[in-house]
Amino acid sequence: MCETHCGAKRHCVKMMSAISAIVAIDRNGAIGKQGLLLCHLPADMKHFKEITMGHSIVMGRKTFESFPKGALPGRQNIVITRSRDYAPPGVTVAHCIDDALTAATMPGDVFVIGGEQIYRATFPLVSTIYLTVIDHKFDDVDAYFPRIDLRSWTILSQEERPADERNPYRLTFMTLQRKRQGR
Ligand SMILES: NC(=O)c1ccc[n+]([C@@H]2O[C@H](COP(=O)([O-])OP(=O)(O)OC[C@H]3O[C@@H](n4cnc5c(N)ncnc54)[C@H](OP(=O)(O)O)[C@@H]3O)[C@@H](O)[C@H]2O)c1
Repeated sequence: MCETHCGAKRHCVKMMSAISAIVAIDRNGAIGKQGLLLCHLPADMKHFKEITMGHSIVMGRKTFESFPKGALPGRQNIVITRSRDYAPPGVTVAHCIDDALTAATMPGDVFVIGGEQIYRATFPLVSTIYLTVIDHKFDDVDAYFPRIDLRSWTILSQEERPADERNPYRLTFMTLQRKRQGR
């Protein structure tokens, strides 16, 4: 149930669009440290842009505030906060998970883009994960993606990308689809 907005006995999860998550994890499932990404990986940023462009993206207030230039262009930026007077430019503000998902207006999947709190809250609703695995174990991490039990997911695609001078770690781009119950 909507924790801060509805108050009513309803569950207003968006039914029209599929909900996907997109995330980069290290070998331990870490996603960030001290409010920032684990490292700068232009190849993963390009991948992220290609997957999310033209769609609605849903994120926590802390992830939004980690962006150096504010809202990401070409996408509907939906930011979740409990703060009632939060109104940064170029952003659709939502005050609970359900309202964020139902606020999506752009076509195709709704993409949950982090961070840890929002990944955890939406994980049961996510049908596809666009997963980048960074072939490294980072130190001093403080944010994680929920544990993925691969028995519950089908690997639709998997592509290796070797390290290079701009991307210091080998990357694996995977697309995971949740198995339907009973299969
Ligand atoms: N590796 C990746 O792919 C990736 C992607 C995204 C983010 N990250 C990393 O993840 C870390 C940030 O994660 P985080 O968990 O600290 O923060 P977050 O999920 O980005 O944002 C948390 C904030 O969202 C709001 N919020 C959360 N649940 C809510 C709810 N149910 N209702 C209303 N508002 C709610 C609150 O905002 P208010 O405090 O304003 O109320 C809360 O403080 C950073 O290190 C970031 O770089 C990594």
